Amino acid sequence: MTEARVTVRVPGKINLQLSVGPLRKDGFHELATIYQAVDLCDDVRLTATPGVPLSVTVTGADADQVPTSTDNLAARAVRSVAALVGVEPEVAIGITKVLPVAAGMAGGSADAAAALMAADVLWDARLGRVELSRLAAELGSDVPFLLHGGTAVGTGRGEVLTPALSRGSFNWVFAIAAGGLSTPAVYGELDRLRGSDSVANPEVSVPVLTALAAGDAAALGAALVNELLPAAFALRPQLRQLLDFGTEAGALGATVCGSGPTCAFLVSDEGAGLDLAVALTATGLCRTVRRAAGPVVGAAVVDAVGVR
Ligand code: C5P
Repeated sequence: MTEARVTVRVPGKINLQLSVGPLRKDGFHELATIYQAVDLCDDVRLTATPGVPLSVTVTGADADQVPTSTDNLAARAVRSVAALVGVEPEVAIGITKVLPVAAGMAGGSADAAAALMAADVLWDARLGRVELSRLAAELGSDVPFLLHGGTAVGTGRGEVLTPALSRGSFNWVFAIAAGGLSTPAVYGELDRLRGSDSVANPEVSVPVLTALAAGDAAALGAALVNELLPAAFALRPQLRQLLDFGTEAGALGATVCGSGPTCAFLVSDEGAGLDLAVALTATGLCRTVRRAAGPVVGAAVVDAVGVR
């Protein structure tokens, strides 16, 4: 009999807006964010291994930095579906990494979203979008968006999604720094910088939504906002230099992805992206430079063998 296996491809994300409100009692911050999924993608393959306990193998870029223990977020995702379905999680998880690790592009969350979807198909669970989104939110604030993809407003801690209108495609250049930044450390630094100042509840950016609906890259570039920037700069001062360099080199806008340290530059077209990528590489300030377009779909099955 053919071994059952399912492969799901999942994109990374950028936050076009990331506005951070007060620290909540549960340790998370109230957010108003606008996500866009971009076509830098990981592949997550689940292969049924009857009688053999769950395992995780990671290949590709940064593979050595991804935990392969059963604490891996994708492994937790598989276990959560198995528990609901009432089966043993006897699968081999194979992750092919393209997304940088601890870089603000939600690589770990993306793999978790892919693993949820793959497990749903492997065990013919048919959990549906609502139940999968609920499981996703339990795994992390960004995980529901990586299932969803496209462009969406995130509120709550980022897990409450509303689709946003977006016209056309936007071209990005990503400058990936050497070494990651810890998300809790960046949020913690923001709290420290804010001290005892009172913080208002964040509001969704109308300029970003308007630019997206119009497909206006110049307006979107000017409207990009990330309130974690001061904290990310405090922990990684070179990020400011990198953003300034990209802006002076002609980017329409520059921001940091999530809590960083990946810097994202919006450009007018692929040619401008190529020029900027070459210039950024020459600075020696970043480990890798990648180009990508968005928005793209969220987690999607690309291969399924031996399943119903
Ligand atoms: O939800 P996720 O596991 O991605 O969050 C990682 C950490 O980032 C949290 O433990 C918290 O420290 C911080 N965070 C936050 N507010 C959010 C999202 C994340 O403070 N809305």
